[in-house]
Amino acid sequence: TPKGTCLESVKTAIDTGYRHIDGAFVYFNEHEVGQAIREKIAEGKIKREDIFYCGKLWNTCHPPELVRPTLEKTLKILQLDYVDLYIIELPMAFKPGDAIYPRDENGKFIYHETDLCATWEAMEACKDAGLAKSIGVSNFNRRQLEMILNKPGLKHKPVSNQVECHPYFTQPKLLEFCRQHDIVIVGYSPLGTSRDETWVNVSSPPLLKDSVLNAIGKKYNKTAAQIALRFNIQRGVVVIPKSFNPQRIRENFQIFDFSLTEKEMKEIEALNKNVRYVELLM
Ligand code: A2P
Repeated sequence: TPKGTCLESVKTAIDTGYRHIDGAFVYFNEHEVGQAIREKIAEGKIKREDIFYCGKLWNTCHPPELVRPTLEKTLKILQLDYVDLYIIELPMAFKPGDAIYPRDENGKFIYHETDLCATWEAMEACKDAGLAKSIGVSNFNRRQLEMILNKPGLKHKPVSNQVECHPYFTQPKLLEFCRQHDIVIVGYSPLGTSRDETWVNVSSPPLLKDSVLNAIGKKYNKTAAQIALRFNIQRGVVVIPKSFNPQRIRENFQIFDFSLTEKEMKEIEALNKNVRYVELLM
């Protein structure tokens, strides 16, 4: 992230009306997010309790004894007393240490054997200590969710599971499973990502060029992006669109003044290709 971009974007977002901010230590811009929130509080625009900040536990920090210190480090960077939601970013663990992506001499990732249930217990302790109001997970499949849900002595269940979710990857089965267990799906890449070839599967066509989304958009005088976002919120999926552009930040918020018909919802659901943009090959 170019220096200052995140600070300005978060301030624009808060002024626009956004309250949910999705961050992570590995985005390396949490200091700017924290600064933006603190500046807006100082201005009297918002109170801390108006903001819903989500932070994430990175793969190198899964051993239970690392969980609380890692969250404390995030809080120190943010200069906040608590996060609203703290989630395990990915179900797989990397070797702990300074390398964010530890690799061996052959370039292979160095994984680390940990017990996701033990990591979860350390997450529960963070909630009990008041450092995180709620705890959840990300990129978990049904089997991994069940491991946590069926853990003997489970104290707090995951409130949310953040996964890729948009009209080309609608997650019907996981959504149904999460609904049954009162787990909110938070959809990342709700606009089909930035299509950055270093981490995105660009063989899947660009979502926002889709003819159905654009045709429905025409009817409501909305863009394909607004239709894609509206589709998800209307089916109960939280969306976290990313933009550094003030105009698009505002555009992505103008989705509460119309609703899609049942037929349009079905038409968009039918666009599902079951192909991910973010394949997470690690
Ligand atoms: P930018 O930051 O220049 O606005 P996702 O949220 O699915 O990861 O998508 C993010 C990508 O979509 C970014 O490249 C972002 O670029 C772009 N983007 C964000 N909002 C819009 C919009 N309303 N229309 C078109 N592209 C958008």
